[in-house]
Amino acid sequence: MLHSIVHTLKMVKIWFLLSSILVGLLSAGLVECIGVNWGTMATHQLPPKTVVQMLQANGINKVKLFDAAQNTMNALAGSGIEVMVAIPNDQLASMTSYKRAKQWVSRNVTRFNFNGVNIKYVAVGNEPFLPSYNGSFLNTTLPALQNIQNALNEAGVGDNIKATVPLNADVYSSPDNNQVPSSGRFRADISGLMSEIVQFLNRNNAPFSINIYPFLSLYGSEGFPIDYAFFDGGSTVIDNDITYTNVFDANFDTLVSSLRAVGLGNMPILVGEVGWPTDGNKDANLGYAERFYTGLLKRVAAKQGTPLRPGNIEIYLFGLIDEDAKSIAPGNFERHWGIFRYDGQPKFPMDLSGQGQKRYLTAAKNVEYLPTEWCVFNPNARDLSKLGDNINYACTFSDCTSLGYGSSCNNLDAQSNASYAFNMYFQAENQAYMSCSFGGLAMRTKQNLSQGSCSFIIQISSSYSSEPSSLVTLSIVAVFAFFLV
Ligand SMILES: *[C@@H]1O[C@H](CO)[C@@H](O)[C@H](O)[C@H]1NC(C)=O
Ligand SMILES: *[C@@H]1O[C@H](CO)[C@@H](O)[C@H](O)[C@H]1NC(C)=O
Ligand SMILES: *[C@@H]1O[C@H](CO)[C@@H](O)[C@H](O)[C@H]1NC(C)=O
Ligand SMILES: *[C@@H]1O[C@H](CO)[C@@H](O)[C@H](O)[C@H]1NC(C)=O
Ligand SMILES: *[C@@H]1O[C@H](CO)[C@@H](O)[C@H](O)[C@H]1NC(C)=O
Repeated sequence: MLHSIVHTLKMVKIWFLLSSILVGLLSAGLVECIGVNWGTMATHQLPPKTVVQMLQANGINKVKLFDAAQNTMNALAGSGIEVMVAIPNDQLASMTSYKRAKQWVSRNVTRFNFNGVNIKYVAVGNEPFLPSYNGSFLNTTLPALQNIQNALNEAGVGDNIKATVPLNADVYSSPDNNQVPSSGRFRADISGLMSEIVQFLNRNNAPFSINIYPFLSLYGSEGFPIDYAFFDGGSTVIDNDITYTNVFDANFDTLVSSLRAVGLGNMPILVGEVGWPTDGNKDANLGYAERFYTGLLKRVAAKQGTPLRPGNIEIYLFGLIDEDAKSIAPGNFERHWGIFRYDGQPKFPMDLSGQGQKRYLTAAKNVEYLPTEWCVFNPNARDLSKLGDNINYACTFSDCTSLGYGSSCNNLDAQSNASYAFNMYFQAENQAYMSCSFGGLAMRTKQNLSQGSCSFIIQISSSYSSEPSSLVTLSIVAVFAFFLV
């Protein structure tokens, strides 16, 4: 009896082995180094299970999260997808207590790990040293990082799960006038702290995690040569005997030089965020996003690396899905970073295998939408004196970032403009009856006013419920997986 169970398990194991080889062959050519950032700051979210299926359908096997939300983690369990969970900045202070850090690790890492979530990294904070935070996290980030990694080590998972701090590229710069990568150093006001963080990461074999945004280089500096933001040449910077043809390489190598300056030029680096937005600014559009990703993915597939760091680079695209509830303090483009629309439809051709073929990613399956009904300006309205106020109200409580200068709906006439705003509010409010009134200025319609690049959307219905049975099923899977190792 025992013998036959062992035999069966062996057969199962062989079958698993064969099928994973098969899956491996089928997805050969897909880029193993590519992950995506899965943010959830949207008013309407696809069910996590739908998102996980979408990731799998596209051969994406790494995700970076911004928290450790239970429903997301449950959906990822058993998927095999590698996960970076995160501690938000506002929890860094509490992680300076080792007891709290141990609780976090046991609740948000060990438990899920046991339930079949393949956790690889814990992100401690998110760009905590941005100058706009006024130094709020300077005292807490390093102790939090140390406590979390030590708690991971104490829990016996520290060899496989590494804590890191996703940092913005503004933690380093080229201090001389030439601004060449070889002169890169950590920012003067945090150089001591950065040096300590880097030493700690190195002692624990954890990677340095950096966010690099060529779009922001273009957006933030007057006269920035636009071709230098992409990967197809046309603009160069010469640094001694190296010719840089794009700002991504230059930025990355400025980090390599900064690490060299503190004696750790060889430590592993992962790019925690890189991407291009598609709306909300004159340079944020589908064409540029496609151009950027085509260049980036070709290089990743070719394992080209940068002049100072040839070879594989692990990168996480930012982001997976548009997030209509993000703060637009950085700019209107902030809600349009998704490689997928709010409803899981791909926006532009993207070939993750890096062959540069003009094909689209696979869309989310079985997405449920609200009824096909829009809210628009009522052409019979007489008193227009409150129109401006009503548009303002609609846009305050929904997302009108596509109406701005250089955006996809910027060329609407005044009436369509009002219609767009009213519809965004109506959809954000789940088409509630009272949300399409605006004092008689609005009316409902079944007519689709989308025109050209401007899309009058129907929201998804986001009333999903998590299945309470899933954790039980998962434990069974976990026990089986245990046998098979
Ligand atoms: C686990 O993560 C969740 C989501 O980020 C957070 O709300 C919760 O406080 C964490 N649990 C512990 C014990 O810290
Ligand atoms: C940082 O300081 C500025 C100016 O004092 C203030 O307006 C802003 O709200 C502060 N930001 C944070 C995150 O504390
Ligand atoms: C950080 O610590 C220093 C020195 O102990 C202290 O002066 C400073 O106020 C602290 N900053 C914050 C934001 O807590
Ligand atoms: C359309 O609405 C936006 C946002 O309220 C506003 O900035 C723009 O001036 C409006 N355009 C027209 C033609 O009314
Ligand atoms: C509305 O029209 C646009 C453009 O013609 C189209 O892409 C979109 O699918 C339509 N929406 C619906 C809900 O039919």
